[in-house]
Amino acid sequence: MQAPGPLARPWLALLLPLLAGALGSAGSLPGSLAPPRFNVSLDAAPEQRWLPVLRHYDPDLLRATLQRVIRDRVPLWVYPLMRMAVEKLERTLQQPYLDEIRGLCKVLNLSLDDCVLCNLAYESSAFCTSIVAQDSRGHIFHGRNLDYDFGHMLRNLTVDVQFIRNGQIAYTGTTFVGYVGLWTGQSPHRFTISGNERDKGWLWENVIAALFQKHSLVSWLIRSTLSESETFEAAVFNLANTPLIANVYYIVGGMSPREGVVITRNRKGPEDIWPLEPLKGLWFLVETNYDHWKQVPKKDDRRLPAIKALNATGQADLSLETLFQILSIEPIKNNNTVYTTVMSAAYPDKYTTKIRFRKSDRK
Ligand SMILES: *[C@@H]1O[C@H](CO)[C@@H](O)[C@H](O)[C@H]1NC(C)=O
Ligand SMILES: *[C@@H]1O[C@H](CO)[C@@H](O)[C@H](O)[C@H]1NC(C)=O
Ligand SMILES: *[C@@H]1O[C@H](CO)[C@@H](O)[C@H](O)[C@H]1NC(C)=O
Ligand SMILES: *[C@@H]1O[C@H](CO)[C@@H](O)[C@H](O)[C@H]1NC(C)=O
Ligand SMILES: *[C@@H]1O[C@H](CO)[C@@H](O)[C@H](O)[C@H]1NC(C)=O
Repeated sequence: MQAPGPLARPWLALLLPLLAGALGSAGSLPGSLAPPRFNVSLDAAPEQRWLPVLRHYDPDLLRATLQRVIRDRVPLWVYPLMRMAVEKLERTLQQPYLDEIRGLCKVLNLSLDDCVLCNLAYESSAFCTSIVAQDSRGHIFHGRNLDYDFGHMLRNLTVDVQFIRNGQIAYTGTTFVGYVGLWTGQSPHRFTISGNERDKGWLWENVIAALFQKHSLVSWLIRSTLSESETFEAAVFNLANTPLIANVYYIVGGMSPREGVVITRNRKGPEDIWPLEPLKGLWFLVETNYDHWKQVPKKDDRRLPAIKALNATGQADLSLETLFQILSIEPIKNNNTVYTTVMSAAYPDKYTTKIRFRKSDRK
């Protein structure tokens, strides 16, 4: 039923050697490089735990980047509002994230309202492609591209982080230095999660109002789900039902056959839950930044190319390597792509991120 067309295999055969290079020694393929990987100890106080990571970065450059993100993303009228709100928000913003931000902003000599704003600013404008799929033997694979239109500032701040609890990796995620939330992460031997933005350009007034109602940032919910949920089902329930400050798509992969789902979220709860149904031929789900039951706009169609590439690969040949290759095809990968991650909860050691450098980043 999923037999690839006659052209599929030669296409794959051509690409596979390239791919081996891409996933082999870091950096052997121009334009893709593994980010640094750091341990962050959850047993250390929240205000302290990011300091060992920060030490590897020039504080002036970091401060300048964070200020630039704020300037580019946050309308001017929000600044004074945030300055007034932050004192009250100190009582409502979720822990440990607020204290982690507090620790970061002290080191960077930024005010708390700037650091909170920056963490909020990153919540918007993540245009992405996520794929969760099941191979013929029932293994679940999950991949994502994270696209930002100010990617040139973020590629060098991209890090893989292992969050350590009691000497063990509690969960792993990919983020930008200074941003305590996660858009991509893995709870080993349990599940993997990625988030894609839904609805470009949310309203700041709505977001700030939602913060006062103790709604979660979308990236904080990914992190707290990785931290707390013990099963795929529990993770899906948590991601589907926890109130959020903005709409989002959550893509979740598990350990067992059929454990793959796209959750379309509004701020209050789930709008739609779309599961893998391999027995009916639905062995992969592709989510970009549009509701899966609607057409995508012609000028931003990353969905159809991804579906075609998955069909051409075929369910039997699905692997982290082929998934990475699919996520490397234009326009699935594009000029705004900051990084690609492929992961599978059953093989936590295979968690792989590559930064998608462009020539212009090296200036
Ligand atoms: C921190 O920032 C303040 C005001 O922006 C400035 O006066 C002060 O010199 C800075 N301190 C350091 C250590 O950079
Ligand atoms: C990170 O933590 C893991 C688990 O405790 C440990 O095996 C590894 O050596 C640590 N890595 C670094 C660079 O400290
Ligand atoms: C992908 O394969 C499925 C099942 O064979 C088919 O229904 C669908 O039309 C194909 N889509 C594309 C874009 O090739
Ligand atoms: C990406 O950037 C290159 C060089 O700036 C340009 O030639 C190309 O058209 C861009 N691609 C897309 C999809 O915008
Ligand atoms: C970003 O990283 C690349 C690759 O390591 C390096 O060549 C470049 O100079 C860095 N750019 C900045 C602005 O630090």
